[in-house]
Amino acid sequence: MRFERVKPLDAILAAAEQKSLKRTLGWFQLTLFGIGCVIGTGIFALTAAGAQKAGPGLMLAFAIAGAICVVAALCYAEIAAMIPVAGSAYTYTYSVMGELLAWTVGWALVLEYAVAASAVAVTWSDYFQGTVLTQFLGIQLPPWLAAGPLALGGSPGGLINLPAVFIGLLITFLLVIGTSESAKVNAVLVAIKVTALTAFVVLTLPRVQAAQFNPFLPAGVFGGFGSGVGAVGAAATIFFAYVGFDAVSTAAEETKNPQRNVPIGLIGSLLFCTIFYIIVAAGAIGTIGGQPIMGPDGTPWPAGSEELARQCALPQYAQALVCSKEALAHVLREIGFTTVGNMLGIAAFIALPSVILVLMFGQTRIFFVMSRDGLLPDMLSRVHPRFKTPYVVTIITGLAVSLAAAFLPVGQLADIANAGTLYAFMMVAIAVMLLRKREPNRKRSFRTPALWLVGPATIAGCIFLFVNLPFAAMLVLPIWGAVGLMIYFGYSRSRSHLGRGIVEVVSMDQAGLEPEIPGAH
Ligand code: ALA
Repeated sequence: MRFERVKPLDAILAAAEQKSLKRTLGWFQLTLFGIGCVIGTGIFALTAAGAQKAGPGLMLAFAIAGAICVVAALCYAEIAAMIPVAGSAYTYTYSVMGELLAWTVGWALVLEYAVAASAVAVTWSDYFQGTVLTQFLGIQLPPWLAAGPLALGGSPGGLINLPAVFIGLLITFLLVIGTSESAKVNAVLVAIKVTALTAFVVLTLPRVQAAQFNPFLPAGVFGGFGSGVGAVGAAATIFFAYVGFDAVSTAAEETKNPQRNVPIGLIGSLLFCTIFYIIVAAGAIGTIGGQPIMGPDGTPWPAGSEELARQCALPQYAQALVCSKEALAHVLREIGFTTVGNMLGIAAFIALPSVILVLMFGQTRIFFVMSRDGLLPDMLSRVHPRFKTPYVVTIITGLAVSLAAAFLPVGQLADIANAGTLYAFMMVAIAVMLLRKREPNRKRSFRTPALWLVGPATIAGCIFLFVNLPFAAMLVLPIWGAVGLMIYFGYSRSRSHLGRGIVEVVSMDQAGLEPEIPGAH
């Protein structure tokens, strides 16, 4: 297969060679970094949406999504260790499949990073309101400021999610002034999250009743194309709980012995989270139950739908897991551990902003690289003279993240982010296989084991989860892609540096940016 406008791999590697970053990270730091990026909205909030889709089958959903992420991670590990420069999946695609496909990947990564950041901002808002405002201060925001127009959880929906906008703008400000979370801060936040989840497991597991798992698959395994329900529908949503592990790949160039440490960091953080998630889901459902609220046709009402919100407003569902906005804190309060539930709420309140920060950081760096390649306006890669940050692109990203968080519910944001992420993961798997065929002898510090099984399994797994997303989320990808292609052919193609014969690869530090990845050092 021939591709047009392929960025020469040698030029990319030469630029990477010139970088002055020291290899300092070991497997333990990488694993902590991965866990720090990964644990967030997925487990703290989407447990409710996942249970509405699959009931106790949510546990199976966590296993399915986790398994697909593990094979994707094995592919990421090979290419990240081989092409250790900024831009992640966008750069890998550029060097293997050319500019057009790289553009589509970069464009899809906006969904992975920016939209995911919005989803986490909404969850932060829910924990802030439920725990800090309501439980501690006895304050309730007026409904029109508490949620976007489409809100899950019994509330009729509001107008704007003010706390989510606030946190989005605060993180934007921190990124503009160059706040980079240190590895120590990351380690503390990981400890807070893991302690909260451990406390949850320790308190819930002894109270689990087998009867709560019956029926185990109330909506079946396959809910049907586009329905977004059943165990695989829940897997497609709960996939969000693993988004962000690929950030580990961005630290490949700063890792000692990447052959060994990058795969341990990627796979280790994923396996840790998968096992934890399954146990937490068992604790939540086994104690207060997690059966979906069924519509008249015997299938669950769609998570995030107005009808579900109406059902949740009925007194008999007031305590249901599937109606809760702060799923895990709610479970603990329901089984009598109000104080611990509130502490878990505080843990989410403290730790979720760092997930937003890492996701937004990733977004700004991808836009930055695309702009340096001439595919986006130059202005976007302007670096602030004092703070040494790409402030223009950070502000634009921050405004977009805050806007989406202001008006959309978390479940829909997560599903949209998943659609973009699945596309990027699939392209990475294709790139790894093409590169193996085309350049079998190029030095690889990590080789994906059984690539000819793992690569196709990643592609099949991504397509499989994608077609099990709710129809509306599935539709976003082609629409977003079409807008992207219009921009590419209308603007980027003629301005592309590569298209104009300029082969230029500039690393972050050469471009005047602080290269540090938040939470890694
Ligand atoms: N995996 C991250 C979360 O669940 C994005 O918040």
